[in-house]
Amino acid sequence: MSADIAVIAGDGIGKEVTAEVAKVLSAIGQRFGRRLHLEHLPWGADHYLETGVTLPPGGYDTLRQFDAIFIGALGDPRVPDNRHARDILLGTRFELDLYVNYRPVKLLDERLCPLKGRTPSDVDFVVFRENTEGLYVSIGGRFKAGTEDEIAIQEEVNTWKGVHRIVRHAFEFARARGLGRVCMADKSNAMTAGHALWQRVFREVAADFPDVTATHYYIDALAMYLVQDPAQFDVIVTNNLFGDIITDLAATFQGGLGMAASGNIHPGRTSMFEPVHGSAPKFAGKNVANPIGAISSAALMLETLGMTGEAAAIDAAVLQAVRDNEVTQDVGGTLGTREAGDAIVRRIQQSG
Ligand code: NAD
Ligand code: IPM
Ligand code: MN
Repeated sequence: MSADIAVIAGDGIGKEVTAEVAKVLSAIGQRFGRRLHLEHLPWGADHYLETGVTLPPGGYDTLRQFDAIFIGALGDPRVPDNRHARDILLGTRFELDLYVNYRPVKLLDERLCPLKGRTPSDVDFVVFRENTEGLYVSIGGRFKAGTEDEIAIQEEVNTWKGVHRIVRHAFEFARARGLGRVCMADKSNAMTAGHALWQRVFREVAADFPDVTATHYYIDALAMYLVQDPAQFDVIVTNNLFGDIITDLAATFQGGLGMAASGNIHPGRTSMFEPVHGSAPKFAGKNVANPIGAISSAALMLETLGMTGEAAAIDAAVLQAVRDNEVTQDVGGTLGTREAGDAIVRRIQQSG
């Protein structure tokens, strides 16, 4: 088994955590006898500022030819309108139709959780964030921008097909993993048109899954229940923006943004994997960023490619490094980014 992987390290700490992912994938390749070929693409803020190109013509077709895509992070204070991130990151989600944003939330060690008394068995759920529509579609614009007469319109798009496929995916995932509960979160009390569609679809799909308990919370209440009792959740499904926000909140339960992993998936097609965090400019180039979110995202990538033993080996090495406290400062360790990556690589090599 082999895989060709497009790698966009991107900006800021994205470059540093991606370097650790490359080391981990190399160790996995050696241990399991797999050819994991990484093709590094230079797209990011530096490339954009030098060339004026965010991604080249045919860039999405280039990406489609790989078995998977890995992205570090995109975002740079020198590009205030975030144009390159819109084209590269959001563009890849949209153009490759990666409608499932899969964000597992799993506490590895009790000491990392800021919620009082919570243990790993209390914090173990997944968020499915709709990833191709909602408020992210860039439909709208600014009229009389910069004046006191300015009108700014940004539309939220909800389609039956878009809502149906992510809600269905959440229920199918729950059934396949033997998880009993799916919670849908919307704001249908205020957004009475767009989110009425979520309500209708949720009811329709839930009826096909009598073995799964379907619950609904408004998104504001969900934020409160997540903090109060995360153990009540197995699977959460929500729209693009709400999913973005609650997965940063949920990342804190795992020890912070440095720990959180994600996949941007179209089942059966080339999919993209990245940590939940961004480019954290204040940490860039300082060898302090936690590489675990990125490394765990690479594990999700291998799992999606069918390399489940390889993915499990990464997860086991990460868990052991956390238990041994061979981690970065944000999660209570003393190591730098490279040294924390080395600690995981060593455990992969030793487990062989
Ligand atoms: P961020 O996720 O980059 O960082 C927020 C804070 O979280 C950091 O200041 C740091 O304290 C902590 N943090 C994040 N990653 C960490 C890590 N690996 N190790 C230790 N601590 C970590 O979010 P932001 O500051 O809101 O955004 C910075 C830039 O990143 C912006 O340009 C934003 O648009 C972009 N961004 C990109 C992505 C992506 O590429 N997927 C995701 C989020 C934000
Ligand atoms: C994420 C990020 C992106 C998003 C930004 C960088 C556009 O926050 O992947 O969570 O909002 O989707
Ligand atoms: Mn986000």
